[in-house]
Amino acid sequence: MNLKSLLPIALFACLTCYGQSHVMDIQTNKIGVPVPKTMYGLFFEDINYAADGGLYGELVKNRSFEFPQHFMGWKTFGNVELKDDGPFKRCPHYAELSYPGHNERRTGIQNEGYFGIGVLKGEDYRFSVWAKAPQGSAKIRIQLIDESSMEDRQEFTSEDLNITSSEWKKYEIVIKSPRTDNKSNLRIYLVGNSTVDLEHVSLFPVNTFKNRPNGMRRDLGQALADEHPGVLRFPGGCIVEGTELATRYQWKNTIGPVENRPINENRWEFTFDNRFFPDYFQSFGLGFFEYFQLAEDIGAEPLPVLNVGMVCQYQNWEKESAHVPVNDLNPYIQDCLDLIQFANGDTTTVWGKKRAEMGHPAPFNLKMIAVGNEQWGDFYFKRLEPFVKAIKKAYPKIQIVGSSGPDPDGKNFEAGWNAMRKLKADLVDEHFYRNETWFLSHGLRYESYDRKGPKVFAGEYACHETGKKWNHFEASLYEAAFMTDLERNADMVYLSSYAPLFAHIEGWQWRPDLIWFDNVRMFKSCSYYVQQMYAMNKGTNVLPMKMDGKFIAGQDGQDGLFASSVYDKDTRTVIVKVINTYNAPQSVSLNLLGMKSGKDAATITLTSKDMDAENTLDNPEKIIPVNGSATTINGAKCSVINDELPAKTFRLYKIKR
Ligand code: AHR
Repeated sequence: MNLKSLLPIALFACLTCYGQSHVMDIQTNKIGVPVPKTMYGLFFEDINYAADGGLYGELVKNRSFEFPQHFMGWKTFGNVELKDDGPFKRCPHYAELSYPGHNERRTGIQNEGYFGIGVLKGEDYRFSVWAKAPQGSAKIRIQLIDESSMEDRQEFTSEDLNITSSEWKKYEIVIKSPRTDNKSNLRIYLVGNSTVDLEHVSLFPVNTFKNRPNGMRRDLGQALADEHPGVLRFPGGCIVEGTELATRYQWKNTIGPVENRPINENRWEFTFDNRFFPDYFQSFGLGFFEYFQLAEDIGAEPLPVLNVGMVCQYQNWEKESAHVPVNDLNPYIQDCLDLIQFANGDTTTVWGKKRAEMGHPAPFNLKMIAVGNEQWGDFYFKRLEPFVKAIKKAYPKIQIVGSSGPDPDGKNFEAGWNAMRKLKADLVDEHFYRNETWFLSHGLRYESYDRKGPKVFAGEYACHETGKKWNHFEASLYEAAFMTDLERNADMVYLSSYAPLFAHIEGWQWRPDLIWFDNVRMFKSCSYYVQQMYAMNKGTNVLPMKMDGKFIAGQDGQDGLFASSVYDKDTRTVIVKVINTYNAPQSVSLNLLGMKSGKDAATITLTSKDMDAENTLDNPEKIIPVNGSATTINGAKCSVINDELPAKTFRLYKIKR
């Protein structure tokens, strides 16, 4: 290429519009505010079978027979009795299998898993059980079966296990699955006449994410890591609050040996009467220790959310008496203080010691805590106050995240922000599940925020057209457009996360969601890829970028274009994100002011001709980011990229200095 002949063109582009192009000026030498490492994160809640039946590796439902209907999830046959004097105080129930009275009969139990038990061909699964044989010895047969099979035999694996003691003991065997099956069942039956007692019956993939015992389903854990999240908010969401105080999330019930963690109802079991799931409980196998460890494994800052002494306000509308009286909040406040000690305290402290006993003597380095999930009004403000005082007194460096309620504007929202300012919360959690028009018209949301008060956590958001479409490409495009504003306002917005994160294809209550799965497969939504494109290209500092002297946020005359740019000091790369939300292709010229010898740009493009298109289990990569390149023209005044951006496209340009 003859560079000299291109010089006048590049120079012209730096001075004025390039033909019909939209000329965007990026000041590559004006390194702006840092982009927080935590900026793009994840919000995990056990909704849509995200934990039990999803990310958490356990394949057996109701493994400890503690559901209120004690054999829910199990079929029993022959002579099976429920007992309640088991070895685990907080999970006392177990199943006793005895001789059914005739050699031709059988006694056993069969678990249906979560919409079936998913196993993969060639993978190892660890079956474990706490058992005793009152007569001193007994034998059980453990099978993975396909009940609908037309083949000779229903079982496709079968192993015998000898129970060798009249005392409770843990037994384990590893089973290799000869096939992939999305909907198998686990069948256990008595061989011989001797009685056997079974407690905490578990089937777990040996290969969990990062090979953690009691760990996460590998593919789902990896999907989280691949998103490169800066923060992991957990465990909810409304499950933090509970329908009444007794069913709120209590982190202390979720640590220690899994066999002794009491179950809790999952409020998503019955929240929506058009999709309710009577078998949805929280086993707490994925508890606070595991959440902290997961955050560490995926490189994210942990952000636990604790109950503020309030139940779900939606389910207890304006009912002061449903919440804890302000004067009785001490145990709740203590839970927060103890949690900070559990995460950060040294191993000589009460709670630090418990963390060490669970296998993590080093602190988890907790920096933030959210008190209250999606609370609003005076109910909340007066309860939050003593929490803030106590936490700041004991741990002045811990940042406190408060809530601005369920809406992104309006009376409650304004009151929430005012109260958070007064209380000196460090961050305010905003939630917005809104439609496409809202996202397109909020590209300048954070410019006007008061920089002096708390920072923003855009903690739950997703774009959807209620009742119409879910997880379609167009919604993700408008999220990408909106996110240019998060990026531009990195001095104000410290954290953000799409919500909800996971959904079982058969067990969802809420959509859209970032990642969908069945028992053996998964797919990432278009929104996942948008989040990933931002998170992997967040750079280190914001760069000023404007078109005709205005922020590029779909403003009048901007033809539905949105854009932002950052610099990555570590790799000396300018990263420009441009979103064309318009129905037609548009020419853009990126003037890289202050740069004269930029390398050709590497591009990443997410686009689709069909706005309603979405990824699916059968076609998981229908819409994915595609790598490409764009020529950088180095002129006397600046480097320029001229590009034609297809209609409805998110494109990211990376230009190395
Ligand atoms: O993400 C689903 C729910 O939306 C969360 O539990 C709650 O915080 C919000 O209302």
